[in-house]
Amino acid sequence: MAAASGKTFEVFNPADSSVIAQAPDSDREDINRAVAAARRAFESGPWRRMTPSERGKLVWRIGDLILKHADELAELESVDNGKPRAVARVADVPLAADLFHYMAGWATKIEGNTIPISVPGFHAFTLREPVGVVGQIIPWNFPLLMAAWKLGPALATGNCVVLKPAEQTPLSALRLGELLLEAGVPEGVVNILTGFGETAGAALAAHDDVDKIAFTGSTEVGKIIVRAASGNLKKVSLELGGKSPNIIFKDAGDLEAAISGAANAIFFNHGQCCCAGSRLMVERDIFDDVVAGVAEHARKIKLGPGLAADTQMGPLVSEEQLKRVTGYMHQGKQAGACYVTGGERSGDRGYFVKPTVIKDVNPKMSIVREEIFGPVVVAEPFTKPEELIPRANQTPYGLAAGVWTRDIGKAHCIAAELRAGTVWINCYNIFDAALPFGGYKQSGWGREMGHAVLEAAKRCGPCSGRRVTSPS
Ligand code: NAI
Ligand code: MG
Repeated sequence: MAAASGKTFEVFNPADSSVIAQAPDSDREDINRAVAAARRAFESGPWRRMTPSERGKLVWRIGDLILKHADELAELESVDNGKPRAVARVADVPLAADLFHYMAGWATKIEGNTIPISVPGFHAFTLREPVGVVGQIIPWNFPLLMAAWKLGPALATGNCVVLKPAEQTPLSALRLGELLLEAGVPEGVVNILTGFGETAGAALAAHDDVDKIAFTGSTEVGKIIVRAASGNLKKVSLELGGKSPNIIFKDAGDLEAAISGAANAIFFNHGQCCCAGSRLMVERDIFDDVVAGVAEHARKIKLGPGLAADTQMGPLVSEEQLKRVTGYMHQGKQAGACYVTGGERSGDRGYFVKPTVIKDVNPKMSIVREEIFGPVVVAEPFTKPEELIPRANQTPYGLAAGVWTRDIGKAHCIAAELRAGTVWINCYNIFDAALPFGGYKQSGWGREMGHAVLEAAKRCGPCSGRRVTSPS
């Protein structure tokens, strides 16, 4: 549907900067209309009367339809975001379907409690009820999957939604909207609006008739969302940035597995992951071997457009991100870090950068402190666990971490000391719809996925007291 103003914005293919679509440039007026539609659907539409079982089946059908259209969705994701089509086909799309399938099961299992109270003659219980109208603002790194992470739990628990995809990647969310209608989601229950953060996003976050805002993106905008939400004290959940340590001990055993795991931790999705293993911490005895091995992986990665069959890494998502990532590369060089491989743009067409491995760094450097959100890893050696833990935790973020050792006792001790929402042991980037995901510190509020996300999608209903016998 067109924006009320009739305005549109251009959508680019990041592999060659060509314009591939025009999307409606929604603003405050469109957000107002969408929130009103969601409110109507929540208060008086058929959605409210749908049984949990019917809702569960509907959410399941969304997963089925995603799988049915998997090739098309993977292609859309590839031209819009830049990621290889083959990766979208085996990761983004099936994970999105799986999330809906997993959440479908929860629709019939949302239970309250009966609470034994000590007021004679009464009994009490709690209900878990939908929050109401939920605003969802998502980023461009996994456009379809992030839409699924947000919509799945909201729909399974009976909420109505206004979703704004990132301006860089609006296409798969729009196609998903068509599939939601095909699955039987009633009119007004999900409203998908394309537009910019500062206009559409800001209007949604501040809207007085929105009960909750769920945001994934930068920590900087996360703080803006919190301020905007304070007007009506809407609930807020946030999934924000990271600067995650990936720690390899010399007793990691299969060092080749640890090296390719470290390469995957940073280079998957071109490093555009909030949980990217962007700080590689390696026990000193094996530091040179590991760094050389990761650099070797980096050099072998085949860059190319997402639709080419042999592409292993596509372009960054946008010119803005290209400038940002090459800007960090430049800062690292100025500060005196050693570039083992990469460190610059690749070619002059599209937004490609070379996978980059950096050593000889110190904690003052911006490349060590700040989220780069590109295929850039900083490597540093350590000798003792006493120095390792404070350094690993020396970041305002706390999203994820990796630990590689065959000593299972050590693995669990180190994991317990790390201030990170997820700690992967002898692996990295393992995701499942049943596993909660989210951060400590400035990586966010609340958890996505698993039954943990339902805490955010439902509110505890009235603690209802009912007299069962009349006192005489
Ligand atoms: P961003 O945080 O500006 O954008 C994410 C979403 O927020 C988009 O849908 C955008 O339209 C919306 N948004 C932006 N400003 C807003 C506002 N004032 N009110 C409401 N919504 C707003 O992230 P951006 O600019 O695309 O990327 C910048 C950096 O953020 C990246 O380099 C990366 O470090 C980080 N980032 C982290 C992500 C994560 O998954 N945690 C995802 C995307 C970016
Ligand atoms: Mg931004």
